Amino acid sequence: MASTHGPAAQGARGAQVLVASNRGPVSYTVRDDGSLHARRGGGGLVSGLSAIGPDAGALWVCSALSEGDREAVRRGVGEEGVRMLPVPADVHADAYNGIANSVLWFLHHLLYQTPLEPVFDAEFRRQWASYETYNRAFAEALAQEAAEGAAVLVQDYHLCLVPGMLRELRPDLRIGHFSHTPWAPVDYFGLLPADIRVQLLRGMLGADRVGFLTHRWADAFTACCAEFAGGLDGTLVGVHGLGADADFLRARSHEADVEERLPVLRAEIGTAPDGGPRRTIVRVDRTELSKNIVRGLLAYRQLLDDHPEWHERVVHVAFAYPSRQDLAVYREYTAEVQRVAREINDRYRTADWTPVVLHVKDDFARSLAAYRLADVALVNPIRDGMNLVAKEVPVVSDRGCALVLSREAGAYWELGEDALVVNPYDVLETARALHEALSMGPEERAERTKRLAAAATALPPAQWFLDQLQALRDLQPS
Ligand code: G6P
Repeated sequence: MASTHGPAAQGARGAQVLVASNRGPVSYTVRDDGSLHARRGGGGLVSGLSAIGPDAGALWVCSALSEGDREAVRRGVGEEGVRMLPVPADVHADAYNGIANSVLWFLHHLLYQTPLEPVFDAEFRRQWASYETYNRAFAEALAQEAAEGAAVLVQDYHLCLVPGMLRELRPDLRIGHFSHTPWAPVDYFGLLPADIRVQLLRGMLGADRVGFLTHRWADAFTACCAEFAGGLDGTLVGVHGLGADADFLRARSHEADVEERLPVLRAEIGTAPDGGPRRTIVRVDRTELSKNIVRGLLAYRQLLDDHPEWHERVVHVAFAYPSRQDLAVYREYTAEVQRVAREINDRYRTADWTPVVLHVKDDFARSLAAYRLADVALVNPIRDGMNLVAKEVPVVSDRGCALVLSREAGAYWELGEDALVVNPYDVLETARALHEALSMGPEERAERTKRLAAAATALPPAQWFLDQLQALRDLQPS
């Protein structure tokens, strides 16, 4: 593939619409024969950019994450409309692992064990300098690529400083920032050193408009600005509740690779003593601390303790795919998920019943197969910006499913009425909700699923993106 990125691709005028994110729409690996293999991702931004069409003068600026990505940049290989920034690996590791994933992600998801962490020491300051460098690399690339008055949509907690830096370089641009995470409450955000929290908030307030997935996170951000930054300083705050892509999911979940995986999964689940299919409780997550997979397993164990009538009649299908494995705490969490699953199986398994079917190798087609077979979906995060699994399962499940949903997921605000809502820390309550979900009659389940699917797809990804773009374009030029 020829290299077409950079200003040449956009002509002398530059790009009209720019997206900036840490993870881009494509990633490369170097094959054994030395050739590069490109793998494309999905998600809301990909659908959004395809909705504005190939001639819209759009450019996606992202980082070269892997060695393969860096090699692609060195060889001048790239995709039309994508510019990968070859930030030095050590700077990226400090910014991404050190600050974004170990500090900002922890703050917004309330993940610290506060007697021992966080510790804001000299090492933190060193990593913070890399976070600034990393953000500056994005701001400079965007400033270089953007046409006069262009719209720039900056994504997530990796790039909080970009709007402020870009505003200084290019006051003519219309800048948006969107947070895909929750936002921390004032007291928790206040754990940060005073200068850092001001820098983060002012960085984001460099945008004309900041966006969040729910009012709860938008209000928390506004409260932090009032407390620590003297208010919003003219920046607008918007809410865009990203929904599931019904057309894509319905079509994709009936493709050949998914159909192939269905009988394999059915065989793993097995049949109940009466000869009928076993019920399934399905969860699909990254193995992510905030997803609360361990307490989900403990709740399932409690269900089996309290309700022997479910023995041999239910299987917990848990797909927990590797994530952020550079961080020791994620590796330990993955091991704990596996340990608890093993413990449940050791305690309850029979000759032909494995109570927990756990898979840790990422396989999108198998996830969709599990969605189709789900009787119950378990989505119990400690805290989550939205949680798209909660929105996807009701759309895809063949027979309709009951949704056990944490009140701390952003999706709760849209799906709460038709879900069985739980406090994610309360394992006994979650076990009761699982029992109730498994016991729900087919009519009620079908009715609820219909309403869940409608609410889940109210704002499809392309519209979610276009709404944000329109809101930026509607602003008066500054
Ligand atoms: C969350 C974040 C995204 C991130 C994704 C996967 O959804 O909001 O920005 O891309 O997790 O995490 P990763 O660290 O693998 O990019």
